[in-house]
Amino acid sequence: MPEVPFNDLSRCQNEVNEHLQKQFADVLNSVNFILGQRLIEFEKLFANYCQTRYAIGTASGLDALIFSLKALGISKNDEVIVPDYGFSATALSVLHAGAIPVFADVSNNFPLINAKTILPLISEKTKAVIVVHMHGLVCEMDEIQDLCSSYDLCLLEDFAQSHGATWKRKMTGSFGKINATSFYPAKNLGALGDGGAVTTSDEYLMDQIRLYRNYGSTDRINSTTIGYNSRLDEIQAAFLSVKLDFLEKWNSERRTIASFYKERMSEQSEVYIPEPHLESKPVYHIFSIYTKRKMGLYDYLRNKGIECRMHYKLPMHCHDLFKHYIKPGQTFKNSVQLSSDQLSLPCFPGLKIEEIDYICQQINNFFRC
Ligand SMILES: Cc1ncc(COP(=O)(O)O)c(C=O)c1O
Repeated sequence: MPEVPFNDLSRCQNEVNEHLQKQFADVLNSVNFILGQRLIEFEKLFANYCQTRYAIGTASGLDALIFSLKALGISKNDEVIVPDYGFSATALSVLHAGAIPVFADVSNNFPLINAKTILPLISEKTKAVIVVHMHGLVCEMDEIQDLCSSYDLCLLEDFAQSHGATWKRKMTGSFGKINATSFYPAKNLGALGDGGAVTTSDEYLMDQIRLYRNYGSTDRINSTTIGYNSRLDEIQAAFLSVKLDFLEKWNSERRTIASFYKERMSEQSEVYIPEPHLESKPVYHIFSIYTKRKMGLYDYLRNKGIECRMHYKLPMHCHDLFKHYIKPGQTFKNSVQLSSDQLSLPCFPGLKIEEIDYICQQINNFFRC
């Protein structure tokens, strides 16, 4: 059996190669590389896809998060609730905005925060909640939205891992007042380099993001805001417009892969696979399994030529940068347990059934020993 990579971007890229080559040639010939027609076009397509009025391209997902918080007016001494389990960029953005991250534990045996884990953390200083649809699973949005409305908190979605995922048929990236995403190449919708976007239906917020990404000036003569240089390049916008057409197909492939895994491991009592909420349509950016024998399994699979990853080994409250923000008496039972048991299996468009069979066969062999 050949080696099974954790991700092989070339497999889905082959499908779009010709289109990408054409876009590359067109942009090259246009000699227009920044803030041109291709970005305008992609922003329209992406906003339409996300069911929001506006999408604004940025240079990265981290910048999209930072600008979103700043546009909401989040600043010094404000508290922003973020998940304890996840990627550092979400909490980092809060520090960049000058505010205080407050870490919420995730659900029992499920890697997402919910209204019950958020509620006890709300204080007079709380101004916003950032939900992350981790691994392409979807947060229970009704209760979270209700909670944010009751306490007058801004809701922001980090949908970097959930392009195309829905809650009650509504797109992630459309629930928050403002939402941020990443087009890092390995994302479900990935550029051929760095990129990100903000989505919103609020015209004021859209204008603010446009200012932040382009030196804080509308005309490049008069500066009105402390801005940045963080645009989504024309070339990336052109590539993303091509790939957006394939996103639904690729997401559907990810869901099929997930269901194959679940079926083939259904008898495996030492492996836990979280079941997505029935009202959600997940997109499996990452396919996670949880087991007490994670390290043994990881090494075993590696020796069999199967590349796995761990997302994420260290909960946020354990990072040197973030540990000062733990509230007195706070515990993170669920995120600590999930972080220690989590293993990511290969799950990408183009992964073959024979490869999934081989992976599951090896997992089952391991637990037989
Ligand atoms: C949940 C989440 N938020 C934010 C980011 C940051 O995005 P970027 O790498 O484009 O800055 C990532 C990227 O990996 C992510 O997974």
